Amino acid sequence: MSETVFTRQPHLSPMSDQQRVEILQDPGFGNVFTDHMVSIDWTWDEDGGAWHDARVEPYGPLSLDPSAAVLHYGQEIFEGLKAYRHEDGSVWTFRPEANAARLNRSARRLALPELPEELFLGSLRAQLEADRAWVPTGPGQSLYLRPFMFASEAFLGVRPARQVRYMVIASPAGNYFGGELKPVTIWVSRDFARAGKGGTGAAKTGGNYAASLLPQLQAAAKGADQVVFLDQYHDDAIEELGGMNVFFVHADGRLVTPALTGTILEGVTRSSILQLGRDMGLTVEERRVTLAEWAEGVRSGEITEVFACGTAAVVTPIGRLLDGDDVIESAGGTDVTLKIRAELEGIQTGRVEDRHGWLHRLV
Ligand code: COI
Repeated sequence: MSETVFTRQPHLSPMSDQQRVEILQDPGFGNVFTDHMVSIDWTWDEDGGAWHDARVEPYGPLSLDPSAAVLHYGQEIFEGLKAYRHEDGSVWTFRPEANAARLNRSARRLALPELPEELFLGSLRAQLEADRAWVPTGPGQSLYLRPFMFASEAFLGVRPARQVRYMVIASPAGNYFGGELKPVTIWVSRDFARAGKGGTGAAKTGGNYAASLLPQLQAAAKGADQVVFLDQYHDDAIEELGGMNVFFVHADGRLVTPALTGTILEGVTRSSILQLGRDMGLTVEERRVTLAEWAEGVRSGEITEVFACGTAAVVTPIGRLLDGDDVIESAGGTDVTLKIRAELEGIQTGRVEDRHGWLHRLV
């Protein structure tokens, strides 16, 4: 397939160097966006439809018809990955082919058109060619890339949209939870589930995150940072957190995470950690983990560390689990957690050998 050409309309008044440098000192997460954005449109036709009008434009509000299907029926998917600046100034991303594949799995579930991998990779490259100055250099910092796709057709009938837009926006990122890295507190959602059998739990679609917001508010009211969802049908098996996967480090050298059941998001960080765990000589297990196993394991010392992981969260230790009035303190260990985090960030930033071929140069 020949490489798609993106038309480029540079921002006429991009942010000043001084303002950008100030923002990059402490970007937080998801607060500020770069000067440009990428868009590609898709239009349905009898032959299956086609992507067209790939472009890089100044970042700014969209003009969307109020009847655009995404606003009514939530036909939307997204991805999250990061760009890292290496010591020589080159900019790289991590396993983007895995994000391209997941975007297309989500697209199939949401009846959206698939985006060829080459176009996905080209869109990231186009974004970075326009905004490479926005990639921060501080420890733990990166440029978060948010590809997304939505039903832009103006039509209220309930059927897959015939006009769709794919976009990329970018936002400099530090610690997802703000400030320095510290153990987070998790609240068990007993009232709500994130996903059900046959639903959209394995797809990265806005509706799953919308469903997590009310439980997330309950969590925040209890002083927790994130909520953990359970599989209501099977003995309170742990699924995932509001926006990240969860891992358990056992005293006997096992690294355990809930198996992918069709209701859990297949995290790219999750699968990378399974590989890094193997590399470190840990025995990795993907299986059912119940809340009782978590609570009892931490109390008995069998589980020594618990951590959350995701593109945004990277690897973040979990300090406490709140279940109703029960407070389950973590065993307090963070050795393996921080070792895995350092290894992952080391590979991403070019300081540790990329022995699995995970890095992909953007600019
Ligand atoms: C990510 O880790 O990239 C996510 O998508 C999680 C969250 C910020 C929605």
